[in-house]
This record gives sequence, C-alpha cells and structure tokens, in this order.
Amino acid sequence: MKRLIIILFALLPLLAGAESKLQRQGNRTNIVIDGRPMLILGGELSNSAVTAVDDVALVMAKMHAIGLNTVLVPAYWDLTEPVEGKFDFSLTDRVIEEARKNQLKVVFLWFGAWKNSMSCYAPLWFKEDVKRFPRAITAKGKPLEIASAFSENVFQADNRAFCKWLRHVADIDKAVGTVIMVQIENEIGMLEDARDHSPEADKAFNAWNKSGKDDIYNDEKFMAEYYARYVERMAKSARAIYDMPLFVNAAMNSRGRKPGEYPSAGPLAHLMDVWHKAAPSIDMLAPDIYDTGFAGWTAQYATKDNPLFIPESRCCINSGVRALYTFGEHRAVGFSAFAIDQESETVTTHLTRSYDMLRELSPILLDTKAKYQTWGMLFDKKDRERIITDGTVSLTCRHYFTLPWDPRANAEGDWQEGGGIVIRIAQNEYLIAGSGVMVEFKTVTEKQQEERKTLGEDGFVAAGTNKVDKTADKQSSTRFQGKRIGIGYVDQVSINDDGTLRYIRRDNGDQDHQGRHARISVDEYKILHVKLYEY
Ligand code: DGJ
Repeated sequence: MKRLIIILFALLPLLAGAESKLQRQGNRTNIVIDGRPMLILGGELSNSAVTAVDDVALVMAKMHAIGLNTVLVPAYWDLTEPVEGKFDFSLTDRVIEEARKNQLKVVFLWFGAWKNSMSCYAPLWFKEDVKRFPRAITAKGKPLEIASAFSENVFQADNRAFCKWLRHVADIDKAVGTVIMVQIENEIGMLEDARDHSPEADKAFNAWNKSGKDDIYNDEKFMAEYYARYVERMAKSARAIYDMPLFVNAAMNSRGRKPGEYPSAGPLAHLMDVWHKAAPSIDMLAPDIYDTGFAGWTAQYATKDNPLFIPESRCCINSGVRALYTFGEHRAVGFSAFAIDQESETVTTHLTRSYDMLRELSPILLDTKAKYQTWGMLFDKKDRERIITDGTVSLTCRHYFTLPWDPRANAEGDWQEGGGIVIRIAQNEYLIAGSGVMVEFKTVTEKQQEERKTLGEDGFVAAGTNKVDKTADKQSSTRFQGKRIGIGYVDQVSINDDGTLRYIRRDNGDQDHQGRHARISVDEYKILHVKLYEY
C-alpha cells in the first residue's frame, strides 16, 4: 500500500500535466513552466525549414548547438489538412520528438488563414473554392489572395483545423510540456487597401461606422477590430482545448507607409487598444522587428498591459546585444531571431554568446524577491550614449568605439552595435553584462560639474594646445562640490546557479583605464562586477 502511494505521488505531475503560463512575478511578467520561470532564448525557423519530416532532426540539433532554449516553429495548415477533413500530424510529431531530444521548448506558429497578410498556407481545396471561402476585395473590386475575415466559412474551416491540430498537441504533449506557447496566424493585415471591401465586409462596415467617417485610418481601425474578433474566437476555442499562453505578431508600419501599404490593421502599436479590447484572450501583441530603430519599437510594445515578447527580429551580428538590451531594459518574456537555421556561425555566434550570458544571469534576472533594478544599453554610430541616474549614482554608458583609440571606430559605414544589461545588485555595486560598451560612474553632483577632456589610452590628455586658456583658469577657480565615486575594483565574473558570483579575473590597470571606467570591447562578451566607493 505504502509503495502504491509513493508511485501515485511520483506519477502525479504526469497526470496533472506540465503547465505553461504567463505570471506577474515581482517586477516582471514571466513565462512559468511547471512552476519555474524562464527567459525565452529563442530562434524562429525559416518558413520552409520543417516542411519535410526528414529535415527536422538536423534543424533541431543545430538549434541546440546554437544554444537556444526555445524554437519557434510553423505549423502549416496546408500540410496538416491536405484533404478536407483528413489530418496529417507527422510534422508536428517529429518537431516535438526532436525538440525533446535536444532539450528545446517549442512555440508553435499557426500558419492558418493568414501568413504575412496572405492566405498562402491555406490548403489548395480551400484556395480553389472561392465561392465557399470568399476573398477580401479591394475598393476597386479586385479579389486578393487574402481570405475574407468576414466569412463564417473561412473562420469555421480555419478554426476546425486549428482545434484538431491543438487537440493532437495536447494529447501527445500535455504531460511533458514541450510546447509552451502558440501564435495564432502570422502577421495578419490587409494589403493594397486599408480594409476589405467584399459585400460582407461592407455590410459590417456600414453598421460599424456610426460616425460616417471615410478615411483609411478609420478603415484600418474597423478592420483591426474584425481581425481581432476573429482571433479572439480562435483563442477561446484554443483555451477550451489546451490552456497556454497565446500571442499574435505584427509587421511594423515603418518607413512612412500608410495603411494598406503595410499590412493594415495588424496588432500594431497604434491599434493596441482595439486589439486588447476585441481579443482579450490574447496574452501578448508581439512586434516583428526588422527595420532600424530597434529600441524604439521595443518601447512601443513593452507597456503595462503588454509584456514584451519578440518572436522575430533580423538575425544579424547585432542580435546578441539586442537580446541583452531587450531583457535588461524591458524585462521581456523572450527574444527570438528569425531564420536562424539559415545563418552562418559568424552571425549566430553572437546569439550563442549572449544567450550563454543570459542563461547565467537568469537566477538574478528572475529573482522575484530581490527585484533587482535593471537597464538596457544599445548603441550604434548615431546613438552612442545613455546616462542612467540611479539615486545618487550617475552611470554614463557609451559605445566602446567612443573611446578614442579603437581604429575600428574610424572605419567607413555603420558600427557593429554595442549593448548589454546594467544590474544594480546592491548600493554602489553593479553588474555590467554585454559587448562593445564602456561605463563611467560618478556621483550625480560630480556629473553636473563634469569637465570633458579627451584622454588617450594612457589616461593623459590626448593633445595639448600650448596656448594660455583663460577660461581654463577661471574654471579651476570654481571649487569642486560634494563627493566623488571611485572604482573599488572591476572583476570578470560568471554566475552560479544560485545567483552568487564566481571570480574569473580582475580587470584593473589598462583594462579599466586605471580606475576610470568599466569596459567590454566589441566582439567580447563579458559579465563585469563593479564595486564602487565614495570619497
Ligand atoms: C515576417 C514573417 O512573419 C516571416 O514569416 C517571414 O516571412 C519574414 N517576415 C521574412 O522577412
């Protein structure tokens, strides 16, 4: 009897199933898996990467080797339901099997009725039957390869396949919990026009448009509400089958484009209220960031009601520092780079090194009791500096190339980005984790009295003028006020599983400019422990 009870207890977690949910913990929202929070260190596969069962093993092994803990993988409607009502889950099965072998979690992306606005992943039997499954139509009457969101038949077909597929995922994975999140559709949005002008859409629009407004921004709002309503119905059916975090992603409305020139009415920052109201079962509206201005896009999506998750970002040599910035500045749920399976090691190595650091930093970043204060740094040739005021301490953070002695600073073209995380672990004690950055520490009063002189690598004034400078005499007659901050030491460290620091080596002398700053060169990835003192 006693043995039976012990066995039953051991089996309990399996019977209950592995659970994945989003939870507010301390000063951040975390994805919590079986009671344990984690940072999603992700990569999204290129669109066709797992369309053949035989390709899956190799791809997943590569994702493990790069150092991801989560892979974002399409679930294709056309290959799941090639014949109406007949389902084939072999790709999904293999993805889950190989992910488990490689200790990876999976975020599935339902490529259903819409993928980048279009309905290219709808099965052929759906595409051909335009009568049953009507298309969105432009104001000029041109039918598009975009299924109409106003057709109940479209919804029923898409939702039926989605539910069948999700039921299968629940059956094979609920006890283990390899699949942790689902994205519904992909980059929803109308193209060519701001809204659908099919007869059904017009009918709905006339009923909706009480104000009688007639402009593309009003059209976009209307369309967003109806896309969101459609998604909400899918989210509700999903929750009844397998309750896990759900999100939608958006293509950005960058480069001065108007609704219809970009995928109009998607979950864009200016439509967040519409989407939140009409699709309350969606946990996160997520930006796909390919354009310049990475920090600006992240800020628009990291709001009180919307935890930040970046399912797609351009995979490049800057991805590593961008990931660090995202977690440091916005306490994000996760970061992922797109088409990571197609990138060379020269590129992916930046993510590997950054994710290694984030894995180490996790016990600190996820410490819900200590609620450490964190900031992000992200610098390029244009945005070179950020000044952080933390109580009485002023941290001047800059791109490494602002130091006057690295010849790469003078090269033509853009700088490789520098960035990372600043973490205050105690009063006058910080961790600087990143690449291509330098940080100076001053008291706020000292910063206010700062005189800027360019110092060479030896710490001496780079070039004298040999002239009598009367203003210099005047300045020196103003007495210095208040206290200064000095660097007690800068150590390279790694982080133990319990969040304590492990000394690697000391960065003194030339490495901290004889006590003037902490720095990490471009291409190096380090965690520095900086202890300050006042005098
Ligand atoms: C964004 C889409 O969501 C992806 O599936 C892919 O098409 C990329 N764009 C390509 O840049």
